[in-house]
Amino acid sequence: MRTVHKLKELRTILHNFREQGKRIGLVPTMGNLHDGHIALVQRALEAADVVVTSIFVNPMQFGAHEDLDSYPRTLKADQERLEQAGNTLVFAPPVSEIYPEGLANQTQVVVPGVSEGHCGAGRPGHFEGVATVVTMLFNMVQPDIAVFGEKDFQQLAVIRKLTRDLCLPVEIIGAPTVRDEDGLALSSRNGYLSSEERQHASALYRVLRDTAERLQESHPKQLAELEQAACGQLQASGFRPEYVNIVNSLTLKPALASDSDLTILAAAFLGSTRLIDNISISR
Ligand code: PAF
Repeated sequence: MRTVHKLKELRTILHNFREQGKRIGLVPTMGNLHDGHIALVQRALEAADVVVTSIFVNPMQFGAHEDLDSYPRTLKADQERLEQAGNTLVFAPPVSEIYPEGLANQTQVVVPGVSEGHCGAGRPGHFEGVATVVTMLFNMVQPDIAVFGEKDFQQLAVIRKLTRDLCLPVEIIGAPTVRDEDGLALSSRNGYLSSEERQHASALYRVLRDTAERLQESHPKQLAELEQAACGQLQASGFRPEYVNIVNSLTLKPALASDSDLTILAAAFLGSTRLIDNISISR
């Protein structure tokens, strides 16, 4: 498995694969890979002949007081895991390769609607950073398919919309969330949790499951009460909830009585670590 750091080299290699008629898959990541990422690579290998995994800690999607500097950078371990998984090529560019004129001079991609609210409210500019780098990666790799995790439900909605709106010729595949045995969704940020916090962390998924069960039986007018109850349960488990929102799974707008596909989105802090998770139901 090769690792390239420069766009020019990436393009030459991919040109050769395309000449051979190979179908190209892309798995964008910020590295510090866990089993959830490897599941994305495996899903991409089912749909493509050649899989490019990008590893780039994208400064544009971090807020001023967020964890850009401390975000774990573990390229060597990531390469080993990807090699074992059968990944074809790693693209690990330096910041100067992606933003040669600096962040302030970079053209940005803004995705209205689905970027707003939820994580978009608590992390202003975050989804513009994600949408911009993902659009650039699509143009750099020109993949036939790209795989993203459903754990980042709002991010997936943003990427699906930008792909549709900008007529990008790439199929977006959402892959199910991979969880630890106790239900905690795998995330690079789980590594920030102390051992005591880690013991409490599975409450996030438990509360979501409990809320999903109640949602199946509840009257649509009770949604706000369900959201409040879920926040209360999270607080009782030691979390500081940022939001629990019950939304239409496609628009991410507050769920209406007539909606049949619903998603419960949640973000909550455990100590200084911000965790997100979601559950979708049909009724
Ligand atoms: O989900 C992530 O790891 C990042 O947001 C992504 C999609 C790689 C863009 O930087």
